This record gives sequence, C-alpha cells and structure tokens, in this order.
Amino acid sequence: MAEQLISTCAHETLPESYVRDAAERPRLDEVVPDAHIPVVDLAHPDRAAIVSQIGAACRSHGFFQVLNHGLPAELMEAAMAVAHEFFRLSPEEKAKLYSDDPAKKIRLSTSFNVRKETVHNWRDYLRLHCHPLEQFVPDWPSNPSAFREVMSTYCKEIRELGFRLYAAISESLGLEEDYMKKVLGEQEQHMAVNFYPKCPSPELTYGLPAHTDPNALTILLMDEQVAGLQVLKDGQWIAVNPRPNALVVNLGDQLQALSNGRYKSVWHRAVVNSDRPRMSIASFMCPCNSVVLGPAEKLVGDASPAVYRNYTYDEYYKKFWSRNLDQEHCLELFR
Ligand code: SIN
Ligand code: FE2
Repeated sequence: MAEQLISTCAHETLPESYVRDAAERPRLDEVVPDAHIPVVDLAHPDRAAIVSQIGAACRSHGFFQVLNHGLPAELMEAAMAVAHEFFRLSPEEKAKLYSDDPAKKIRLSTSFNVRKETVHNWRDYLRLHCHPLEQFVPDWPSNPSAFREVMSTYCKEIRELGFRLYAAISESLGLEEDYMKKVLGEQEQHMAVNFYPKCPSPELTYGLPAHTDPNALTILLMDEQVAGLQVLKDGQWIAVNPRPNALVVNLGDQLQALSNGRYKSVWHRAVVNSDRPRMSIASFMCPCNSVVLGPAEKLVGDASPAVYRNYTYDEYYKKFWSRNLDQEHCLELFR
C-alpha cells in the first residue's frame, strides 16, 4: 500500500505531507458563510420556468440545488448510511480494496492521485464505475451487506435524473431536448464516495483543493449536518449549505465546452473540520471515451466563434489525470 488511508489512523497532528504552503491555504475566515445558491424545484408545474431557472443558474454559478428531483429521501438516507458503514469497516477489510491506480474501475483510495501529487488531501474515497450496473456491481464491496443493493438503486435513479437535467440544460441553450444525450453518447457513470475524517488542522489543508470537474455533469449528495463544499463566485469562496433532501448539481468541463463557454464549469473545493467527519457521494455523468466533444454547432457562428477545438473524452480524461487537481482545467489546452 503506497499511502495509508487516513480513516484507519487516529491523528493528533497534521502530518507534514498534508500541509499546504501559506499562499495556498483555505483562509477559512474569509469564506462567505451562507451563499445564495440557486434552488430549482423540479416539480414546478411550468416546465419553461424550470428550464429558464436552470439556464440562469448555469450562467451565473455553474451550480445549483434541485428539490423534488424524484429520489426518495429514504434512498438518499440509505446511501449515506451504507457509505458510513463502509468507512467504519476494519483497516484489514478496507485494505483489500485499496489501489492508487486511477485506471481501476473499482477502488478505495486516498487523497486525489497519490502517484502524482506533492501535497496530499485529507480525504479517503471509494470510486466505482456504475454503468452498466450488471457489469460492475458483482465487483463492488459486498460488505456492508446492503451496499450493492442500495447503491445500485441509487445509481439508477441518479442516472434518470441526470438525463432529465441534460434535457433541461439542452433546452436552456436553445438546443433540441435530446441534444446532450445524443452527442455525449452512451454515458459512463462513475461514483465517488468521499469520506473526510476529522482533521487536526483544517486551516492548513483541504479535503479537495479547488478544481473543476472533468466530466459533463456532477450530482452530489451531501451530508446535511456537516458543511464542507465551497464554490467560487466572483472571486469569493462561498459555503454551500444544502437544503434538506436537496441534491447539488454542478456543471463539468464538458458542458463548458459544449455550450461554447456560455456556461461555466464551476471551481469548487471541499474543506475539512476538526469536529466531525463528513461524507459526500458524487455521481459523475461522463461522455463515452470515443465521443468527439467540443462546442455545439448551433452555438458557433460569426458572432460567437468556437472557443474550444474538438477532442475526444479519452484525450481529455488522460490529460486530467496527468496533472495536479488544482491546476487550471484542461479546457485551456484545447483552445
Ligand atoms: C467533489 O468535488 O467531488 C466533492 C465535493 C464534496 O465533497 O462536497
Ligand atoms: Fe468536484
């Protein structure tokens, strides 16, 4: 094992390898505590209003919360409960799943990319490929015993929600409702179950440093009791306090490219705290590797020339994992 999982050791002081340089620290006292993150009620009777609210949120924040999204509250609670149970397993049990190889489709790991990074992040995570479920679920953790059933039901529901959001986002850009679903191809779906243990010096380190997501769309289930997600808006970090039963949606780099820069892949980060551990479950909707990506033709014209060149997701994703998480997103390299 290259690195030890943080969740298996009790730390009284922050190990040196997690300490950020002074200029890179989170400056927690400067964070805006209660942000007005747009909230979209997906049960609103007027679909045009939903599309317009989503479009406005994608432009202003690249980020919004959804309510009445179709996932039962009990399912969200069950997913969180099996996630907590999983991270409570013994170190020996967890070690069986450990890998620092980003190419592996099922793995428990720590930080972000321990093979490349110079400073580590205060996070352990279980990363799973989720589509098609029949292919991957047999290799998912069998302990806790409810894990496979709960998480596969959760993934199915999230996928449906993801496609509903694709439709609304496509429409909000003036594209056909099925545009994104069609051009992004048979979607891959990945999940990261993030566990951030209590940290002895939260002001010196990150759970995840500032980054944008490389995929198309991310749907986050967050711990309602313990905050930690922050997004960058107009140069200021703002804390996201999720509404009860809400899911948090953020646009990834592929939607910034597809929208020809009209929508932003939002910069976000996870900070840690010394009082309580925190869990988040991120679901990533990802284009297929072979699909050619770039600005939608309809959004390119004399008045709005293409901001990015075309590329494949495979090309993009390899670039993403070859660098540090907190570097400028790779879209800059595809200009
Ligand atoms: C992420 O950026 O994937 C995780 C954010 C969080 O833990 O809230
Ligand atoms: Fe992220």
